[in-house]
Amino acid sequence: MNAAIRAVVRVGIARGFEVLGVQHGYAGLIGGEFRALGPRDVGGIIQLGGTVLGTTRCEEFKTEAGRTRALDHLQAQRIAGLIVIGGNGSQTGAWELRRRGAPVIGIASTIDNDLYGSDVTIGCMTAIDVALEAIDRLKVTASSLDRAFLVEVMGRKSGHLALVAGIAGGCEVIVIPEIETDPETIARQLREAYERGKRHALAIVAEGARYDADALTQFFGEHGERLGFDLRVTRLGHVQRGGAPGAFDRMLGTQLGAAAVAAAADGRFGVIVGLCNGKVEETPLQDVAGRMKPADAGLFELAQMLAM
Ligand code: F6P
Repeated sequence: MNAAIRAVVRVGIARGFEVLGVQHGYAGLIGGEFRALGPRDVGGIIQLGGTVLGTTRCEEFKTEAGRTRALDHLQAQRIAGLIVIGGNGSQTGAWELRRRGAPVIGIASTIDNDLYGSDVTIGCMTAIDVALEAIDRLKVTASSLDRAFLVEVMGRKSGHLALVAGIAGGCEVIVIPEIETDPETIARQLREAYERGKRHALAIVAEGARYDADALTQFFGEHGERLGFDLRVTRLGHVQRGGAPGAFDRMLGTQLGAAAVAAAADGRFGVIVGLCNGKVEETPLQDVAGRMKPADAGLFELAQMLAM
């Protein structure tokens, strides 16, 4: 997100805009927390995870009163274009503002990669890299001790992170919300990995799956003896967020930030900028708000073949 903020500020100034940063997301919009940003204010941030502006999960913004206060601040500050960097919740909020006439543009950003309007969203690749580092390390211990491991990754209701990290990390079993499975099947798949001569067996589980780390810990706790092996469980959780962004995310943030300014300069509001088929494209916010992009079922089939 910082790469996007930096690009918005610098490209915005280059194109003749005055740029203000809204601190703490929608809570700051409701509270009028605006801060003038110049080129030097966004120096040295492109390599940082998170957002230097801060953010919040804001319940008040979901109310009519909260949205009205936000709109009042936008008018009082005479904001010509509001750029919202975020995922599903943020972009649904952006559409709610747009519906009420505000000049809003979204930038597709979430580690979950569950947003329509972008094949890949800011933060997702870096989060996958963090998961990969953990998987690679777990594999070393798994192979040394002939042990089964389970790692749970984030993703909210989407299996995208688990799917891509599972394929790139060479996991034997991938459990995602989009595809039904059950603990007996997972145990069988892990056992079969040993039977095929593997020295490790790794399952990656999306936090949104019905059988998540908690459910599987309980199952293996109760049935470990009968199954003949136990499972060590690692939940990555928030460790997956906040890592230093990789080259891809720095470039994506920069390109989408610049594209959002271009849309504002041309008066194209009510859109989200994202990467579609390798190109920066605009998609109507209305088509994005409240919808969830599912993980790629084709990738799941590929993962099963690769796990042999
Ligand atoms: O949407 C990004 C995300 O990291 C999800 O993967 C995760 O479920 C959620 O946010 C965690 O949110 P919080 O930090 O508010 O607990």
